Amino acid sequence: MDGNGRWAKKRHQPRKLGHRAGQKALRAVVEHCVRRGIGTLTVFAFSSENWGRPAHEISNLMELFLRALDKEASELHQNGVRLRFIGDKTGFTSTLQEKMLAAETLTANNTKLVVNIAANYGGRWDITQAARRMAQSFADGKLVSGEIDEQQFGNFLALAESPDPDLFIRTGGEMRISNFLLWQSAYTEFYFTPVLWPDFDEHELDQAITAFQSRERRFGYTSEQLTGSSDA
Ligand code: IPE
Ligand code: MG
Repeated sequence: MDGNGRWAKKRHQPRKLGHRAGQKALRAVVEHCVRRGIGTLTVFAFSSENWGRPAHEISNLMELFLRALDKEASELHQNGVRLRFIGDKTGFTSTLQEKMLAAETLTANNTKLVVNIAANYGGRWDITQAARRMAQSFADGKLVSGEIDEQQFGNFLALAESPDPDLFIRTGGEMRISNFLLWQSAYTEFYFTPVLWPDFDEHELDQAITAFQSRERRFGYTSEQLTGSSDA
């Protein structure tokens, strides 16, 4: 979800208002995902590297997270949405951590849509924490090193319970992954749009989905193999 700051700047408003508008956009996108029957939405809300931003922007963002959790959790719950947080929760204040846990517990049995919020997340952090926990499992005698395969490794990653993403959308015009789901996006389709996140609405999401539907996903195979045509 990139481009909140630029969206605000264009309107001669403080970045804070861009983030607030971004929160609104997220709400609309979540609702549209429910309508479109999407199973899992994972959003990059705050990266491990975002702590380097000016202190007042960090505190604005934390305040916004707190208020958003208070405001949105019960409504999401009513709509059958399951909320999960991926990332290093210990980086946040205990109040915020408690609210994250409470929202996860409240919505744990919902099945309409899973919304994973990546907060204090980084793809390298994820791979590293998986390796660390795996090493512990090995030390505890629960894991045989020679048997570690991709599936087992994946079980230690933050999105172990979610399928690999089909579609990756980055708004705001930048064409890079910025340490998002490095492992999980091995065969994900990428979609980049110059639209700034606060302007990303249901029509933009529909456009991205339409673009996705026209892609041929070969997963390393040939086109003929997948279509079952004669020279396969
Ligand atoms: C994304 O918008 C929101 C967060 C990273 C928290 P930005 O804040 O990165 O907006 P730009 O890139 O400055 O426009
Ligand atoms: Mg940005």
